[in-house]
Amino acid sequence: MGESARGQRPGHEELLAKLSLEGKVSLLTGADYWHLRARRGIGLRRIRTSDGPAGVRGPRWDERDTALNVPAPVALAATWDPRRADLIGSLLAAECRRKGVDVLLAPAVNLQRSSFGGRNFEFFSEDPLLTAAIGAALVRGLQRCGVAATVKHFVANDSETQRFTVEARVGHRVLRELYLAPFESIVRTARPWAVMAAYNSVNGHTMTESPMLNDILKGEWGFDGVVMSDWRAARSVAAAAAGLDLVMPGPSGPWGDALAEAVRQGRLSEAVVDDKVLRLLRLAARVGALSPGAPDALTELWTDDRARETLRSTAAAGFVLARNRGSLLPLDPRSLRRVAVLGPNAAAPRTLGGGSATVFPPYRVSPVDGLRAALGPDATIEYSPGVRSHTRIPLARPELLRLPGGAGPGVLVEFVAHDGTVLDTERRAGGFCTWRSLPGAVKAARLAAVRVTTTVRAVTPGTHVIGCSGHGQFCLTVEGEPAFDTYLSVPAGTDPTEAHIRPPQRGAAVSLEAGQSAEVVLEHHLGGVEQQTSFVLPGVSFQLNIAEPDRPDDEEIARAVRFAQAADLAVVVVGTTEEVESEGFDRATLDLPGRQDELVRRVAAANPRTVVVVNTGAPVLLPWANTVPAVLLTLFPGQEYGNALADVLLGRCEPGGRLPVTWPEAAADLTATMPEEGVLAYAEGLHIGYRHFDRTGREPRYPFGHGLGYTRWEYLAADVLVPPPAGAAVGGVIVRVRLRNGGTRDGCETIQVYASRPASTVERPLRWLAGFAKAEAPAGAEVTAGIAIPLRRLAHWDTVTGGWEIEPGEFRLGIGRSSRDLPLSVTATVSPGTAIPDGSRC
Ligand code: BGC
Repeated sequence: MGESARGQRPGHEELLAKLSLEGKVSLLTGADYWHLRARRGIGLRRIRTSDGPAGVRGPRWDERDTALNVPAPVALAATWDPRRADLIGSLLAAECRRKGVDVLLAPAVNLQRSSFGGRNFEFFSEDPLLTAAIGAALVRGLQRCGVAATVKHFVANDSETQRFTVEARVGHRVLRELYLAPFESIVRTARPWAVMAAYNSVNGHTMTESPMLNDILKGEWGFDGVVMSDWRAARSVAAAAAGLDLVMPGPSGPWGDALAEAVRQGRLSEAVVDDKVLRLLRLAARVGALSPGAPDALTELWTDDRARETLRSTAAAGFVLARNRGSLLPLDPRSLRRVAVLGPNAAAPRTLGGGSATVFPPYRVSPVDGLRAALGPDATIEYSPGVRSHTRIPLARPELLRLPGGAGPGVLVEFVAHDGTVLDTERRAGGFCTWRSLPGAVKAARLAAVRVTTTVRAVTPGTHVIGCSGHGQFCLTVEGEPAFDTYLSVPAGTDPTEAHIRPPQRGAAVSLEAGQSAEVVLEHHLGGVEQQTSFVLPGVSFQLNIAEPDRPDDEEIARAVRFAQAADLAVVVVGTTEEVESEGFDRATLDLPGRQDELVRRVAAANPRTVVVVNTGAPVLLPWANTVPAVLLTLFPGQEYGNALADVLLGRCEPGGRLPVTWPEAAADLTATMPEEGVLAYAEGLHIGYRHFDRTGREPRYPFGHGLGYTRWEYLAADVLVPPPAGAAVGGVIVRVRLRNGGTRDGCETIQVYASRPASTVERPLRWLAGFAKAEAPAGAEVTAGIAIPLRRLAHWDTVTGGWEIEPGEFRLGIGRSSRDLPLSVTATVSPGTAIPDGSRC
């Protein structure tokens, strides 16, 4: 069925007519934290939403509801492969179906405006074209299977500091050419069923009240889906007139009676409410929530094996080999008898970023596990974390925890009433306790405390720090003895996600021998009836934390060096922690946490065959980069991390990634994320990412688009074809590129085309990405690729005419393997009087 026919089934007007004003208005605020309201009378069932880009968490925020952990958006973008993004979209859709989710709160298509952005891992790229291409493909993959995508966060929510209140001041041209561009392209080409309006303001309006919703998104681009608020971003009835359709989450919010009253008093036309309800019904029909009629979904068959294989190959396809001196990689497994796998992220990797993108994967293959499995029993793997990279007391490892009375692993959770009655219990694997809504048997008014009881059995002898994190009153006893009774408070104004990710902590030192057990009881007391939450978000949230004894860094580094000296190969896996890189706050520094830089230097000095694997969601400074033979940037690659890493290091597949973001050498000169007096001026204008480095002439550590494979590509020739008017790229050109795989392995190349306009009458970046394509060829073979460059990619937004204009004359198109390595160039000529058709492909 065609998109439009599927979109607006006949009969929605009739359903609308069955609803009273109050009935209509009630549909426009969520039913609870994740659901929309059902209305049986019109055949509308409850619609379920869920975060997020790295997997489908579902309504439960803990380990009991596992979800496949796909590569984080930045890692997916590093593949530069829309076909893979489409495939991952369809895998996510299958996960949604499995969990009864109708609307996925993804993709996030904000730009990585600054390397400091805390949530960059959740955004695809610093470049609008790459963002749009990957985002649109993901939307298609999801929606083909009947699950709605939610393109977020509209718009200019590119950093976290003060995100609820900050005003982004962005010029109109900059908005159009950079920040709105991915939204426009995705809305026009992939027709998403939902868009999320951001928390922040842009140029004087909060985004839930912004004229851009009606004028640009719905008006100019013809968006026919639902605009929902980011969680608690809706503040006013005025947002209804501005084009917001749905307030999330529910059940309360600024609309309800106030919105109905505004209509009754004639301050808002009922037609505005009707339009929102019709959009909601259209969404319901699209996801199959409106009976009669099943969804038009083509849910694709995902067996466990196919899913695992897709996650593994996609992770490898996003690994960026930044340096490979002397072709150290790929390694011959037969040459590896003893391997040192070192670094804090080697056994405890990050496969996804913190915050709303968090999911609980069924398993995670660490680099140590992946290499061990790949090298088999004949190779010796020695592991040392080398240094500590965290400063907080970590979540208690499930391996340490036993249910009371020796009834197996885990913790016992009890929900305790004011009179001491236990209202409900849960047996849980670990101490991660977050309930956005309380279990059915627990009525908030009766709940006085949540108690966690467990027997901690020590593995390592020495001083353990046993404690908790959260907001509110906590009481800890160890072996019946009080350890602390304390009130932990989150400072006023803290971002709720930051408060969730790194709330205050308290710990008590407990000395334990290996194998010795201690009974631990942690009680979290909630306030009176009025305080039904223990947290800045609804529900109850806290953690049981245990720091086990570990060696001082000096000792651990020395151990790592000893392992490296004795090994055929040293692999050092360095990275960030959730403490420093997450939604909810921006990064304060781009340095790797702890003494990881020193670890790399010491290991590389001990073993000339050292590969450094960088496990971060965004750039970190790599001061040792030119002194180690190989650097592999793996980003946050999902649950198959270790297997994919082994595949790439051992040459079973190529590292397919190219950088979707410039990797800076120094923090100086990077764009700011810190607002001044509530205003974040996008003062750099068009010049973010590589455009900034090109303009200032600074050398980045690794340029945008950079990434090595295992073969060598020769760029032989290029020319420009002007297709006939009815051709594939109406109003544009096709760049034809001939290249040769000049190496000895089959391979895949990402061909990139950058436009420039040397003597332009308007301000422009030195060059900007205008097209890209993948090409594959066996060793020694030639291949020809065609890359379409629609005219819109050469156009600029004219603030005087308020439209897209194209400068007649010659545009130079540089062709090559990164933004700083363009061996070929051709010219595209635009004749005078050429116009950019309204809504033309972008
Ligand atoms: C985030 C959204 C997310 C929502 C629901 C917000 O804080 O900005 O991206 O979808 O929470 O978890």
